[in-house]
Amino acid sequence: KKVVLAYSGGLDTSIILKWLQTEYGAEVITFTADLGQGEEIEPARAKALAAGVKPENIFIEDVREEFVRDFVFPMFRANTVYEGQYLLGTSIARPLIAKKQIEIARKMGADAVSHGATGKGNDQVRFELGYYGLEPDITVIAPWREWNFKSREALLDFAEKHQIQITKDKRGEAPFSVDANLLHSSSEGKVLEDPAVEAPEFVHMRTIAPEDAPDKPTIITIDFEKGDPVAIDGVKMSPATLLTKLNELGRDNGIGRLDLVENRFVGMKSRGVYETPGGTILLAAHRGIESITLDRGAMHLKDELMPKYATLVYNGFWFSPEREMLQAAIDYSQEKVAGQVRVKLYKGNVTVIGRTSPYSLYDQDLVTFEEGKVAYDHRDAGGFIKLNALRLRVLAKRDKRG
Ligand code: ARG
Ligand code: SIN
Repeated sequence: KKVVLAYSGGLDTSIILKWLQTEYGAEVITFTADLGQGEEIEPARAKALAAGVKPENIFIEDVREEFVRDFVFPMFRANTVYEGQYLLGTSIARPLIAKKQIEIARKMGADAVSHGATGKGNDQVRFELGYYGLEPDITVIAPWREWNFKSREALLDFAEKHQIQITKDKRGEAPFSVDANLLHSSSEGKVLEDPAVEAPEFVHMRTIAPEDAPDKPTIITIDFEKGDPVAIDGVKMSPATLLTKLNELGRDNGIGRLDLVENRFVGMKSRGVYETPGGTILLAAHRGIESITLDRGAMHLKDELMPKYATLVYNGFWFSPEREMLQAAIDYSQEKVAGQVRVKLYKGNVTVIGRTSPYSLYDQDLVTFEEGKVAYDHRDAGGFIKLNALRLRVLAKRDKRG
């Protein structure tokens, strides 16, 4: 078997790499992506080589621009949040990784793919729905569901036996499961497992605490075209550069922290701590520009579709006809979502303080409390209310009769 493994170079996927070679007898091809996790990816090459992977079987790729342009931004056009709060930072990265693995498998004539997600979580579902959706007859190897290690200790012993480096804290209680990319970082497990207990400060890795943020607000502008951000303070930037910049601004102002108990697709509740500094700013700003450029009917329909879209992304159905149908509708709505939003960042808060657009639907003459000049006759409102009240009055009359 030839297997394309999603390989971070960390402890778990290093163990998986060894296990695939020794227990599964597979030829392993590694794929390591720079998704903006904030770690060097080149060291993965040396680690893979040291583990006996052939040089031509090592794939390392910077996918940050593709990630933000083709996955993050389309999702933000829908103002997507899962269960009212989660900005889906991990969920949205999995389909991209799956797609790259399948591309490599085709190129290298591999018949299998593998990942490091456990058998209890969402990520296994997301990876594997991605694989099957793109390559229906691929073989999926999910080591966490297949191997016979009875405990974490047994796993670490296997690692030691194969000279895989284990940082000291991996034997202890301190660390937890972490996933990071340009959109967010997420931490789960260990010290976070009791949802009654506040997350310790050291869990946070890409934001300062709001309490420690500057006493002076930071004010920026964000320009939008077709629903996507294109410039900060008038400076045009590529998608990944722009999100990186928003992350810095968010980090310095303590923005984007979330402590959440969520419902996993597999049925259990889990508690996670998320940091999505740039995404939190972007969501507020995007709603700001939509507020003057979208018609009420379009906006409210989007808001109804959004939870459905969020669930599809969360559950791993990125490559599905229903997600693509919703995407088409959302993208259509964004045609004139363009203009500039002014945003105030202050101690963990994002406040939209100004918006302008060449496509604005906001009509000051229509809304003003001063004497109106245009086609709005106060007297029309009387009939409008009377007709809307008709059935309420019928009901009230009946109930009065007793
Ligand atoms: N619960 C989040 C999700 O399902 C994050 C999962 C990955 N995070 C982690 N720390 N392993 O999208
Ligand atoms: C995992 O189980 O590998 C991480 C958590 C999740 O996928 O939900």
